[in-house]
Amino acid sequence: IERVFSGVQPTGNLHLGNYLGAIVKFVELQRTHDCIYCVVDLHAITLPQNPEDLKASIREVTAAFIASGVDPRQHIVFNQSQVSEHAELAWVFNCVARIGWLNRMTQFKEKAGKDRENASVGLYAYPCLMAADILVYRATHVPVGEDQKQHLELARDIAQKFNLDFAASIAAHGHGEGFFPLPEPLIQGPATRVMSLRDGSKKMSKSDPSDYSRINLSDDADTIAQKVRKAKTDPEALPSEIEGLANRPEAENLVGIFAALNGETKQNVLKAFGGGNFSAFKAALVDLAVTKLGPIGAEMKRLKNDAAYIDEVLVDGADRARALAHENIVAVKDILGFVR
Ligand code: TYM
Repeated sequence: IERVFSGVQPTGNLHLGNYLGAIVKFVELQRTHDCIYCVVDLHAITLPQNPEDLKASIREVTAAFIASGVDPRQHIVFNQSQVSEHAELAWVFNCVARIGWLNRMTQFKEKAGKDRENASVGLYAYPCLMAADILVYRATHVPVGEDQKQHLELARDIAQKFNLDFAASIAAHGHGEGFFPLPEPLIQGPATRVMSLRDGSKKMSKSDPSDYSRINLSDDADTIAQKVRKAKTDPEALPSEIEGLANRPEAENLVGIFAALNGETKQNVLKAFGGGNFSAFKAALVDLAVTKLGPIGAEMKRLKNDAAYIDEVLVDGADRARALAHENIVAVKDILGFVR
């Protein structure tokens, strides 16, 4: 069977990149798959977090899922720390993955910065926990943005090595061909890598010090309008063909955002706006962004005042997630040879 899993870190400032790269896909996949969506709080503490802010962020990401159209009754929404099977399987994967594999992870290098000796061991082992998140449910499909591609490849390598290393025991326990599926990344559409509104060479990110670099899901209509109007562009008119976007990263980014928000292709957007200047295009983009994101921001605000409901969703989701994860972790322990 096909099962979808994905996660979002509760580290503040959920933005348009998270929405278009991931959350929009979460909503779509609900129609065709059983889905599990996780607020990955264990991942958040790989960097220092203030406990009160973390608590607020966990609730905010949950609210963003629900406000965007994730259905926590039909599917599963929970926070990672409440299902201890994630951490248990992550330990097993620490022992499956090779140091050489982790040394190649570009996100670790970026996040650790120059002072690598002083980065947490958790930040280094992060991709093993991410593999555990997915594989503890034996999930088959993982909707993410482009920046998670390398981590997904590592998850596949871990699944494959586990299946190989323990092939005999897996078969002896009646699991046939391999215990873990090789999870497939779903990285599709015109906005798999949304760039900063201030610099088309940088990814839109939660941690950019400039709030004008991103559109937050919590921004009101005026703020969205201001940020789009101030977004960096170049002096040329918009091209009529997609090839004309080459070497114009800011133009390409805004066209991609428009296309994704409107559920169409970049080519289609250029059909409508090619040859025109940026001011007309930006005005249309403001209207579109406010129409699509306004109601989500408003619903997030409403849910912020209903922490009891949010917490109830998370507890119920964790209970259902734990039941699925538990069955798999028991099987893994048997495969490994742990006595019970
Ligand atoms: P995180 O919290 O950084 O981001 C959440 C999701 O948003 C996507 N994303 C973007 N997409 C397009 N353009 C951008 N500028 C942009 N910025 C972020 C991310 O690709 C991601 O899909 N390691 C993950 C969380 C995680 C996870 C998992 C994901 C933990 N366990 C298991 C999938 C499966 C992360 O830090 O995402």
